[in-house]
Amino acid sequence: MTTANASQPLIALAEVRKSYNVGQPNEAEVLHGVTLQVMRGEFIALMGPSGSGKSTLLNIVGLLERSTSGCYRLQGQEVQALDDRELTMLRRTTLGFVFQFHHLLPAFTALENVTLPALMTEGRVSAPQLARARELLDAVGLANAMAKRPSELSGGMQQRVAIARALVQDPPLVLADEPTGNLDTASSNEVLALLRKIHAERGTAFIVVTHDSRLAARCDRLVELVDGRIHQDKAIAAAGAAAL
Ligand SMILES: Nc1ncnc2c1ncn2[C@@H]1O[C@H](COP(=O)(O)OP(=O)(O)O)[C@@H](O)[C@H]1O
Ligand SMILES: [Mg+2]
Repeated sequence: MTTANASQPLIALAEVRKSYNVGQPNEAEVLHGVTLQVMRGEFIALMGPSGSGKSTLLNIVGLLERSTSGCYRLQGQEVQALDDRELTMLRRTTLGFVFQFHHLLPAFTALENVTLPALMTEGRVSAPQLARARELLDAVGLANAMAKRPSELSGGMQQRVAIARALVQDPPLVLADEPTGNLDTASSNEVLALLRKIHAERGTAFIVVTHDSRLAARCDRLVELVDGRIHQDKAIAAAGAAAL
């Protein structure tokens, strides 16, 4: 089982490699030995040119894809040995995801979309989970939009529903792949401010993929990938709350 030890890295990757199309003529290695540790409560920007492997890395961290070699520990647990069912359970209880396109289900209300992870994990939504979903929608400024369907909401509002959904299980780590890539500047700022607020209030760790160096400057640490390798990994001075 997972353990929650504050001094232990939340995630630890050691020499992680990823190849696509293994054994075929078009086999290609896209991550060439990535070593990375993330502690609880870190707020990280992941940057790099298109095709540098950011989404691949995030998908491996998020247990959506398996690495080809190397070691990945999530909360101390070596994930390579787990079967698909165990990975799915670990993913649902440990990780929240926010993508560029929100993947909300169009036929469901905002509130129903936020309760979906609980429904999928446990087969039902308990009263405390429903209360938590309402509390989160309130926290993201959507108290009056809970009964609305995604099509009735703006892009920024839809992304805020997706953020509430990512948080409903209170995961220690949220992975956001270009969460503002589809938004205008004002909505992007709002979304980042919201992630920072959640981080400050709950100590949730974030890895946020972004092309926007202005947004990255408001994170606490910058990890830059170039051609499948970590090119730079540095703390950002005067980051975060000060910049808001
Ligand atoms: N499913 C896949 N099959 C084959 N190649 C892939 C697949 N996913 C990504 N790639 C390749 O891996 C490299 C890294 O892609 P990606 O992780 O999406 O980069 P980024 O998110 O930084 O733009 C690219 O060359 C891309 O074409
Ligand atoms: Mg990508």
